[in-house]
Amino acid sequence: MSKNLVQFIIEEQRQLPGANGDFTGLLSDIIMACKQIAHSVNKGALIGVLGSAGSENIQGETQKKLDVITNDIFIEANQWSGHLAAMASEEMDDIYPIPAQYPKGKFLLTFDPLDGSSNIDVNISVGTIFSILRCPEGVTNPSAEDFLQPGTQQICAGYALYGPSTMLVLTTGHGVNGFTLNNDIGEFMLTHPNMTIPADTQEFAINMSNQRFWEAPVQRYVDECVKGKTPGGREKNFNMRWVASMVAEVHRILIRGGIFMYPFDNKEVGKAGKLRLLYESNPMSFIVEQAGGVCSTGRERIMELKPTGLHQRVPVILGSKNEVERVVGYHKGA
Ligand code: AHG
Ligand code: MN
Ligand code: MN
Repeated sequence: MSKNLVQFIIEEQRQLPGANGDFTGLLSDIIMACKQIAHSVNKGALIGVLGSAGSENIQGETQKKLDVITNDIFIEANQWSGHLAAMASEEMDDIYPIPAQYPKGKFLLTFDPLDGSSNIDVNISVGTIFSILRCPEGVTNPSAEDFLQPGTQQICAGYALYGPSTMLVLTTGHGVNGFTLNNDIGEFMLTHPNMTIPADTQEFAINMSNQRFWEAPVQRYVDECVKGKTPGGREKNFNMRWVASMVAEVHRILIRGGIFMYPFDNKEVGKAGKLRLLYESNPMSFIVEQAGGVCSTGRERIMELKPTGLHQRVPVILGSKNEVERVVGYHKGA
């Protein structure tokens, strides 16, 4: 029989000197939250969770009912057990300190509780993204600044994908493994060991409606992909996909390769990109790099950025190594 996720993590922890089960406990809570979210997403209209919540988050985005519900699920599942010092979410203006009635732990958790939420009402795949950081030594009441650690400091990152089947994909810095939820027994089972991203691809993902706002290097790259094997293009033809759920796009890239871009654009002054460094870009970069892919803003490695704010947005270009390096090369030449 294949391993379940908790068994896998316990065995992985045994390899690490000084591990005491604290991390495994935290991960069990996160897994529980993802199972609960899978249940709500799956029941959908039957339990009245679709549609708008009628509120806005700090980024000025209209919240769906499920953005709010899934945020609450994550908090409730993770606040009580003593593993965390604080949490931060895409859907909350400020950090969420662990309430006084619960013990405090040594980890910080950041999450995007429902990624791709514009897809929820049309019954297309959505996901949850999370990242675990260490609370800085000696800090018992963390502030927002304590979360502003570069992505290289993450000790774990993962996502749940609520698609035709529910999957959880995870890294602790020793490769990437994928687990599928067996609804009959309520366990995530190891189905995709050692996921790797092929270095070459013929598939790109970008929201083409933003084309006129991109910088020259991205214009050039996409233009060449579209031309394919015609003059001014490439040695191969390309295919294009855009799901508008980052989780689904990254998962596709982990399965069959590809390049995903939400690059810098000048659509809105003061917004360097769309995707959020702490809740989306860093965790996905950790996973993609661990699977052999590359993640860049076009100018620097995403995981080496020193975050300047909780809700900071950054340009994202990630996926198959040779294609991402080509786009980075075009930025250098520009
Ligand atoms: P969220 O639903 O958490 O706000 O994230 C949506 C993100 C990401 O998942 C996706 O790649 C991108 O926004 C889609 O943006 P467009 O609607 O601009 O294509
Ligand atoms: Mn998101
Ligand atoms: Mn979201």
